[in-house]
Amino acid sequence: MNRRYRKTIIAGNWKMNMTASETRKFAEELKAIMPRAKWCETLICVPACNISTAIKAFKDLRVSVGAENVYFEEKGAYTGEVSAAMLKDLGVKYVIVGHSERREYFGETNETVNKKVHAVLDHDMNPIICVGESLSQREQGLTPEWIALQVKAALAGVSAEKLRRCVIAYEPIWAIGTGKTASAEQAGEVCTAIRATIRALYGARVARSVTIQYGGSMNPKNAFELLAQPDIDGGLIGGASLKPEQFVDIINAANQE
Ligand code: PGA
Repeated sequence: MNRRYRKTIIAGNWKMNMTASETRKFAEELKAIMPRAKWCETLICVPACNISTAIKAFKDLRVSVGAENVYFEEKGAYTGEVSAAMLKDLGVKYVIVGHSERREYFGETNETVNKKVHAVLDHDMNPIICVGESLSQREQGLTPEWIALQVKAALAGVSAEKLRRCVIAYEPIWAIGTGKTASAEQAGEVCTAIRATIRALYGARVARSVTIQYGGSMNPKNAFELLAQPDIDGGLIGGASLKPEQFVDIINAANQE
């Protein structure tokens, strides 16, 4: 982390978990144990149908609500999709874009990710852009090129001014939901490389202001060490964000000096 130049952001990603009633119960439990002073911004991304419930339930907790996906078209005949304007109107601040599960199961490509990034930015919200390599890519030594390509493709046409509102989440696919975490050094190294890619595109000043998160089995045990890496400015947390105590432990790890 480097709080001098950029925000530390701890974000939950609930994926397809938690009903509206469970969301309210979670907020009650969180209220009892949430630390008063937070050095980090905190948010939870919830299924689209529970956004309003979550915004109401988390209001007193200073936890923002994010979306897990968005469609890039403005409006029209796209049955089942949710637009950026709809999310913005509900009070959404952050939108996850290009999560590896969406790339793998729902045909998301670098091109659609880029369109979604623009849709989110055009509606004054902040995209959390996910990038990450598979195990076989890592084993073949392709990680640096692959990640640089994903970052460049996602940011195509994004101005330096708008880039300041983008968050990049480095999530090695082999570490998501597997209990296998990248070591702090492995994760830190890729996050440093992501910043170097951004620096090459936008210059040093802009690059140092961008929040880069790590995601992939982040938990109370490994959070402190991961967040101590100079270029890891937060976490995108799946499994551990479903349990209030674990989520709070990770927030506390982000409160380290
Ligand atoms: P995980 O998920 O923490 O359960 O590995 C992270 C993510 O997919 O964002």
